[in-house]
Amino acid sequence: MSSISIVGLGNMARALAGRALAGGNTVEIIGRDRAKAEESAATLAGATAGTIGATPAGDLVVLAAPYPGAMAVVREYGDALRGRIIVDITNPVAADLRGFVVPDDSSGAQEIAGAAPDDAHVVKAFNTMFSHVLAAGPTEDRPLDVFLAGDDAQAKTRVSEFVESLGLRPWDTGELFMARALENVGLLELGLMNHSVKHTDFSLGITLLR
Ligand SMILES: NC(=O)c1ccc[n+]([C@@H]2O[C@H](COP(=O)([O-])OP(=O)(O)OC[C@H]3O[C@@H](n4cnc5c(N)ncnc54)[C@H](OP(=O)(O)O)[C@@H]3O)[C@@H](O)[C@H]2O)c1
Repeated sequence: MSSISIVGLGNMARALAGRALAGGNTVEIIGRDRAKAEESAATLAGATAGTIGATPAGDLVVLAAPYPGAMAVVREYGDALRGRIIVDITNPVAADLRGFVVPDDSSGAQEIAGAAPDDAHVVKAFNTMFSHVLAAGPTEDRPLDVFLAGDDAQAKTRVSEFVESLGLRPWDTGELFMARALENVGLLELGLMNHSVKHTDFSLGITLLR
């Protein structure tokens, strides 16, 4: 069981919180509007509400805001994130969907790691799964895959355990520089959605042939 704080009150936050609670985890919901966070927590049996900037209750802090907001949150927390595992789910995609709002030799996750305290560990995860796919969860014949990237092996193990508690399959893709590749997968999914699949009721995953 993990103790997680989720910053954000939107689609991904709700989907993650619901599955996390069902998986037996402790969940704190944090929004910039305290009243809205309390309302949101009240709809999720067992969740508590927290305030941005105060020390988060969770060992895992999930940034479930758009990338610029996630960066603002990390800066606002400052040292309150010391020693925490920061789970970056953002897709820092430019508005025209032709690239990213982060430098070419970096990724949202690496930029977030640069803004976080030195002893916090950033793990990229969940950015390749649409929120309603996450909320619906896997079925027996349809596993759902979550790709991870991060520099700290222990932090990735903790996030992998959390992913498993949601009934999902974690796949380690390597160190944090691989976040760029995962953010490109996010962009790939938006391309598929716009040009061929035409909806978001799909997921990309691993088919093991042996
Ligand atoms: N939706 C998906 O299918 C999906 C899939 C994979 C990854 N993602 C990523 O997940 C993240 C969240 O996406 P979403 O679809 O859940 O977004 P959303 O429904 O638009 O919700 C975004 C939430 O972020 C909050 N927020 C924005 N700026 C903030 C700040 N500076 N401080 C604190 N909270 C802030 C908003 O708060 P207010 O309510 O106060 O405005 C809102 O609750 C994004 O980075 C997105 O790229 C989304």
